[in-house]
Amino acid sequence: MSRKLTVAIVGCGDFAKNFVNLFKGHPFVEKVYVCDIIRSKAEGYRKKFHVDIIDTFETILKREDINAVAIFAQRHLHGPLAMKALCAGKHVYSAVPMSSKVEECQKIIELVKRTGLTYMMGETCYYYPSSMYCRKTYKEGVFGKFVYGESQYHHDISHFPKDFLADRRSTGVPPFYYPTHSTAMILAAADSFVKKVAAFGYVDQEHDGIYEEGVNQWDNIYSNEYSLMLLDNGGTARVNECRRIGYKAPSSYVSAFYGTQGAYQFNNAQHLLTQKTKEGVQLTDVSNLINPIEMTVHKDEADFQENVANHMWQWNCFSPQQQEEIKRLPESYRELENGHMASHQFLIDDFCSAAYQGKQPVINAWKAARYTIPGLIAHQSVCRGGETMEVPDFGDMDTE
Ligand SMILES: NC(=O)c1ccc[n+]([C@@H]2O[C@H](COP(=O)([O-])OP(=O)(O)OC[C@H]3O[C@@H](n4cnc5c(N)ncnc54)[C@H](O)[C@@H]3O)[C@@H](O)[C@H]2O)c1
Repeated sequence: MSRKLTVAIVGCGDFAKNFVNLFKGHPFVEKVYVCDIIRSKAEGYRKKFHVDIIDTFETILKREDINAVAIFAQRHLHGPLAMKALCAGKHVYSAVPMSSKVEECQKIIELVKRTGLTYMMGETCYYYPSSMYCRKTYKEGVFGKFVYGESQYHHDISHFPKDFLADRRSTGVPPFYYPTHSTAMILAAADSFVKKVAAFGYVDQEHDGIYEEGVNQWDNIYSNEYSLMLLDNGGTARVNECRRIGYKAPSSYVSAFYGTQGAYQFNNAQHLLTQKTKEGVQLTDVSNLINPIEMTVHKDEADFQENVANHMWQWNCFSPQQQEEIKRLPESYRELENGHMASHQFLIDDFCSAAYQGKQPVINAWKAARYTIPGLIAHQSVCRGGETMEVPDFGDMDTE
């Protein structure tokens, strides 16, 4: 029987603030609590969002009235927190990534299988219009067979939140331990998963106490990591995670998606589709379909490209590509905030609907593992000088 959700948000940092009202405002949610090991942060949320505090994660696990946990703690803590929550009988929404360890990804899948509880990884890029466009167009057969693609998450470390920069034990996390913004984009679009990876890294040269041995908990020295991934469908993807890079927006994007019959290419607000003809190709500019509506409104302004490169119009404005998906959002979301290319509302609705109905969402544990694990193995390849490595796969929910 469907049961409304009582959600405990774990981690009151920089990111979770975008989601409290979305949980509170969802028709399948009864009550929302917040929790942080730093009490003042939880207090800040209590005042801002008018929610009650629960003192510790351990208390959440013991409380029978709480049936869902939303994890927004630091990235390397997600796996252990998700496993404990599932073991305690809670549905889990986890910010990305799933975990920093392959075994934890596997264990989460096993727990979901055993308990039937809902697990979701909130990968914002899954609902980025460019990824949605490639996914739909590929499914329609326009590209033919997938042969090659490129996706990347380019986010310079100097643009990260101040709390993240202050925690020097964690700031220098290997870029490929946070792989899902890039992997999800291309893998979801190509509807495949990774079999093998070979990767190289850029040894950081700034000497500013971030990517240095003996400083971060991983002794990681690489600030940029680049990979070639062989997919199960026979195609290849070049997938990069870069943290020292003179580039800003969009931070995650598919830059190229090539098939046997057509291709998609992207560069600063311009999205192009080519389709093979007998003589050559037919080229269509699909920018107005993919760019957020607000961006298109400003496209003839002199500083348009520079504004796009500085992240303008890429937070809460929907794109025409997302219009079909908007129809399933609850009425209550119309007045609420959004974020990351207007993906937040889709994600929270996915989770609340799935958990309420006792189902698995589209970014379920199996998909989360397929988006996370290639990055973990890619970092191993970087550390071994580019050795080609097999990527473990734990299957798909649909084939269970
Ligand atoms: N586009 C995206 O999908 C996106 C964007 C930003 C951040 N994120 C993810 O969201 C997560 C949170 O990011 P952030 O910037 O808010 O981090 P943050 O460091 O600002 O906040 C994390 C908070 O979790 C708290 N915490 C840690 N362990 C806890 C525990 N056991 N119980 C209660 N509280 C605990 C910390 O005290 C801290 O306040 C990160 O994992 C990050 O990867 C995703």
